Amino acid sequence: MTQEELFKKLVAHCKEYGFIFPSSEIYDGLSAVYDYGQLGVELKNNIKRYWWEAMVRLNDNIVGIDAAIFMHPRVWEASGHVGAFNDPLIDNKDSKKRYRADVLIEDWIAKQDEKIEKEVAKARKRFGDSFDEPLFRQTNGRIKEIQTKRDSANARMVEALTAGDLAAVKSLIEDLEIVCPVSGTKNWTDVRQFNLMFETKIGSVSDGAGTIYLRPETAQGIFVNFLNVQKSGRMKIPFGIAQIGKAFRNEIVARQFIFRMREFEQMEMQFFVRPGEEMKWFDHWKSYRMRWHRALGFGEGMYRFHDHEKLAHYANAATDIEFDFPFGFKEVEGIHSRTDFDLSNHAKFSGRKIQYFDPETGESYTPYVIETSIGVDRMVLQVLSAAYLEEQLDNDSRVVLRIPAPLAPVKAAVLPLVKKDGLPEMAQEIIDDLKFDFNVSYDEKDSIGKRYRRNDAIGTPLCITVDHQSLEDRTVTIRHRDTMEQQRVAINELHAIIKKETGMRRLFREIVNN
Ligand code: GAP
Repeated sequence: MTQEELFKKLVAHCKEYGFIFPSSEIYDGLSAVYDYGQLGVELKNNIKRYWWEAMVRLNDNIVGIDAAIFMHPRVWEASGHVGAFNDPLIDNKDSKKRYRADVLIEDWIAKQDEKIEKEVAKARKRFGDSFDEPLFRQTNGRIKEIQTKRDSANARMVEALTAGDLAAVKSLIEDLEIVCPVSGTKNWTDVRQFNLMFETKIGSVSDGAGTIYLRPETAQGIFVNFLNVQKSGRMKIPFGIAQIGKAFRNEIVARQFIFRMREFEQMEMQFFVRPGEEMKWFDHWKSYRMRWHRALGFGEGMYRFHDHEKLAHYANAATDIEFDFPFGFKEVEGIHSRTDFDLSNHAKFSGRKIQYFDPETGESYTPYVIETSIGVDRMVLQVLSAAYLEEQLDNDSRVVLRIPAPLAPVKAAVLPLVKKDGLPEMAQEIIDDLKFDFNVSYDEKDSIGKRYRRNDAIGTPLCITVDHQSLEDRTVTIRHRDTMEQQRVAINELHAIIKKETGMRRLFREIVNN
């Protein structure tokens, strides 16, 4: 099965089992907008809890807030979003399709990387154990040629985008002979800038309604509350403010399911530090956030850092954590050193003094900021795409979602072996106790095998089967999703077993101890 086929199956699976639906589907949907179903919302809430507790609870110098989506319009002038939150767009005149010009070039660059990897794989096969990969990469003529073209295109793209030179972006697309994926032609319009913010009106028109924006990032709600939180919480630098909330962007090129949406959720943390100490903290948060990802156990090779070559004008360092999705390595999280840009600009635009008096140095200054920013929906996609597995068994096959147990929507399913003889009542009694602490479900329909498969398909880590022996000795069978192994345990042990297997404690330990 190709990665593309796998991804299509995953999207269909998400709908069939109640994880994710297209928005307003009975009206044929709304492009790049999705609804979370009964299981999707549980997964999403668990991801949010994992992030919140790893950031706010495990770090005694981080607190959380929940700022409003609507903000004073001047906020977005100060942040630079009104003037510069743009995507460079280009249209193909034949297909009438619109593309992000930088994405067309990035896709071309990714294709060159693929070509290089193919050459390396071929040579590895040819030379076997004696293959010296670094030497081959350095000396092979074909690879050197592709690499030079690739690096030159990348450098030209960075230069053109940094300078805002849209004509140079178009020339690059022409020079690389990039064709429209739909029409196959090179008949391109000029490149134009398009602002991504959604506008709406506040107040009635007769009152003189003003234009406001749906926030394109949650971070500004943190910046404008810096003084409120610092003073009311008596916070001492270094300290952080965390927030989870919706953000909105009028993405033109919406694709890859919930990877790029118009309405999405972010989990952001701004960490305020002394000027000059930002690089130390940048490295600290890079490492902490990577540990948060890796603790989920999808494998070291699934993640990589991608340092930005083109830095935003306010940043002095930036990196992405990329995950190996079925459509390749893509950004899940950004970590940015944003200098004092945001606080200084809000001070300028609001006319308020936004500074911190440092009791240790006796000085007042505008703090520098390290930001960690991750999309909830991209995390949902990461978990689902890494978890989805079609497994061949001895005489059977199954689809199993190997969702890390602490994030699984349902922690345990309680299943009476048959629908009679007092087994359903006993199962219900078990649920009535477990439900105070865990999301557990009850299922009595179909054979036990079918019920196991249904629970595998939604990622339930544990199935608890109540049988006739249970009535006699108050024991049940626990079946583990990944190994399919079964064990007999006493009912009064269930709580401790589920807590150990599905709690977040193990993940938190890995983040903190490494
Ligand atoms: N405050 C910084 C900021 O917003 P960003 O790189 O634009 O930085 C941060 O966004 C994260 O938000 C991304 O790494 C991604 O996970 C998520 N994100 C951004 N745009 C998104 C979209 N259209 N759909 C889903 N997630 C998105």
